[in-house]
Amino acid sequence: MSSPFLRNVWYAACLTADIKKNKMLTRVILGEPVLLYRNQKGNVKALRDICPHRGIPLSYGRLVDDQVECPYHGWKFDCEGTCTEIPSLLPDQSFDSTKIKVRTYLTREQQGVVWVFMSDRASRSASEVTALESSSGPQIPILSALPLEAKPQVALNKMFSCHVDHAVIGLMDPAHGPFIHKSWMWRSQKSMLEKTKKFAPVPFGFQMIRHRPSKNSKAYKILGGAPTTEITFTLPSVRVEHICVGLRNLYSMTLLTPVTEKETRIHQLLYWDISWLTLIRPFVAWFARFFLKQDMDAVNQQQDGLEFKHPVTEVALRWRS
Ligand code: FES
Ligand SMILES: [Fe+2]
Repeated sequence: MSSPFLRNVWYAACLTADIKKNKMLTRVILGEPVLLYRNQKGNVKALRDICPHRGIPLSYGRLVDDQVECPYHGWKFDCEGTCTEIPSLLPDQSFDSTKIKVRTYLTREQQGVVWVFMSDRASRSASEVTALESSSGPQIPILSALPLEAKPQVALNKMFSCHVDHAVIGLMDPAHGPFIHKSWMWRSQKSMLEKTKKFAPVPFGFQMIRHRPSKNSKAYKILGGAPTTEITFTLPSVRVEHICVGLRNLYSMTLLTPVTEKETRIHQLLYWDISWLTLIRPFVAWFARFFLKQDMDAVNQQQDGLEFKHPVTEVALRWRS
């Protein structure tokens, strides 16, 4: 059966700050349980969170010197997923434990986000996966005006109760804005203006090319000056809005990660180098939550209708096949 998700691409797993020292974190990504932790050098490692022996999640175990020890029978797995120890083996048993492997994933950290490369086959070797990653597929987005170590000033992490396809369409759909996002703080329906947006292709996606946002948008007005904005969507499910105010920058990055066929994790991240905005960060965070909830409510309500096999469901399925 074909996968209901796009594979051989990077997905956001969590934030850099979510992985604490000597602690394991589990995320379900594309229906696979993934265990994440940092080794002694501080690099993020990712293993399939299922013990190959009897199937218990390894995350119930513990970290011992960069290795994950299964809680059930104490088998240990190193960062490469190789079983290094089976405590119940007797000295005269010459079984080679290194033949036992647990699946590993390539990881990368950039601008406060931990990314995991989800390849299409569990059986691919590490070198095959690396080759696949460096081929010409979509790459991890870089917020180019900010350093690679930049961390989000505001980070929201929510679950949408829908397949990633519906969440992606909700993100890209320009027509929902005036209805879903109407607010006295943002803009009233009365002040909606007809405006034509220009789009252009970019590798693995498309872009709403840089333009002056509507004068009636209070959220842009608050930035002062003459802001311009550019919105880029790239596969698998990354939307980046880059607002420039003079030499200063504000980025809104939205990352969708399929959890299951009916659940999608959304990371909504805001970055900026505008110092006065940092002073009102709690207000910006509150506003971002408010805005995201509007999207979440719409997508969740849409599921009530799609339960009844609306043609949209069929279109989404055809698009994937
Ligand atoms: S189930 Fe993990 S070691 Fe037995
Ligand atoms: Fe929206």
